[in-house]
Amino acid sequence: MISLNQGNLKKFITDEEIQKTAFDVRKAHETLHSRRGKGAEFTGWLDLPSRIPDKFLSDLQKLTKEVKKNSDCVISVGIGGSYLGIRAAVEFLKPVKGLPIYYAGHNLNSDSLFSLMESLKKKRVTLLVISKSGTTTEPAVVFRILKKFMEKKYSAVQLKKRIICVTDEKKGALLKIAQKQGYRTFVISDDVGGRFSVLTPVGLVPLAFVGVDIKKLVQGARAAQKEFAAEDFEKNTAYQYAAARYLLYKQGKVIEVLSSFYDNFFYVAEWWKQLFGESEGKAGKGIFPASVTLTTDLHSMGQLLQDGMRNIFETFLVIENQKSKVMIPKGKEDLDGFNCVAGKDLDFVNKQAYLATAMAHLEGGVPNMTITISKADEENLGRLFYFFEKAVAISGYLLGVNPFDQPGVEAYKKKMFHLLGK
Ligand code: PA5
Repeated sequence: MISLNQGNLKKFITDEEIQKTAFDVRKAHETLHSRRGKGAEFTGWLDLPSRIPDKFLSDLQKLTKEVKKNSDCVISVGIGGSYLGIRAAVEFLKPVKGLPIYYAGHNLNSDSLFSLMESLKKKRVTLLVISKSGTTTEPAVVFRILKKFMEKKYSAVQLKKRIICVTDEKKGALLKIAQKQGYRTFVISDDVGGRFSVLTPVGLVPLAFVGVDIKKLVQGARAAQKEFAAEDFEKNTAYQYAAARYLLYKQGKVIEVLSSFYDNFFYVAEWWKQLFGESEGKAGKGIFPASVTLTTDLHSMGQLLQDGMRNIFETFLVIENQKSKVMIPKGKEDLDGFNCVAGKDLDFVNKQAYLATAMAHLEGGVPNMTITISKADEENLGRLFYFFEKAVAISGYLLGVNPFDQPGVEAYKKKMFHLLGK
């Protein structure tokens, strides 16, 4: 379950403003669902969860068994939308029953790639190459290197099973290579953009290999698809979140800090940054998505959050129930003065830290809201992915931008191609 608490926005946003924005949200809802708005050709994610065939999920589980038998690990090559959702799910869920996963092609750091190859020299490797366009420089160049690494270890026949490509159905260099070499391929459909693709084979293939329960992940997203289809603003928390962000932005709160109290949210926040940054940051508009992990960052960024320039608002991410209990022991002499929490679970202290932070930041002039999920499991993550996707689509339409394109990502690529002589 996902809940949204907006109690700490009351000093900043009036009911009247919310009602006015609710009207615009309804218009945005109609535009999105009728698929008549900007970027409508990339709204395949909207009903994607319900369109994923159960057979595909079962077949993937069969393939996973085969891959697990012949491999010690998976290397996942990809960047942006072909990387962040995978890592978000892996780091959030910490699956234990599947293969270890290593990431490559999300940067151009030679030392990292060199040490990865050194450490995997004697391991049995399955190489997953993920690129929607099939032409992105980082994964393409790194794949060249890793292909050679694999060719040294395996015959051409073995490689047909060990290299798996996830890419476009019809175009792109990766597809050409896969077809020529006879590698297994999975297709990313044209109507789902990179940052919305975590529930396509982009995310589902690697997540199955590492032991994530993909059926439950999809179940969660399907539940969210139904829940956040509600046109009624009062019933749709994704819409309430989008509306609040928009109203705060109009007051000059141009930075949203996603603050979580659980470090396994770290890469979920990275995924969220791409989703919101790429969807909204265009035409001179957009909220800058930032993130902190608390309480850790309260000891580094706490000062700025509490007391710095008042151009920020905060969205807290809280997990209601932890899977494990870690009790705080009683000290004989209470030298550190913390017997006040003896016999309590560590998460009790974390929750008090959250309450204290939310109050202090509000007093410091930082409007904040809280998204709570009941547990760090697949179902909740599936819901959360979809919640944010739905929210950003509405939020983008409220801003008046096309939430589904990313013309700015191309600018550096063009310059780099020029420098590389491509
Ligand atoms: O959102 C986007 O389209 C980009 O950030 C992509 O996710 C990123 O550039 C990777 O693209 P591709 O999957 O085509 O290699």
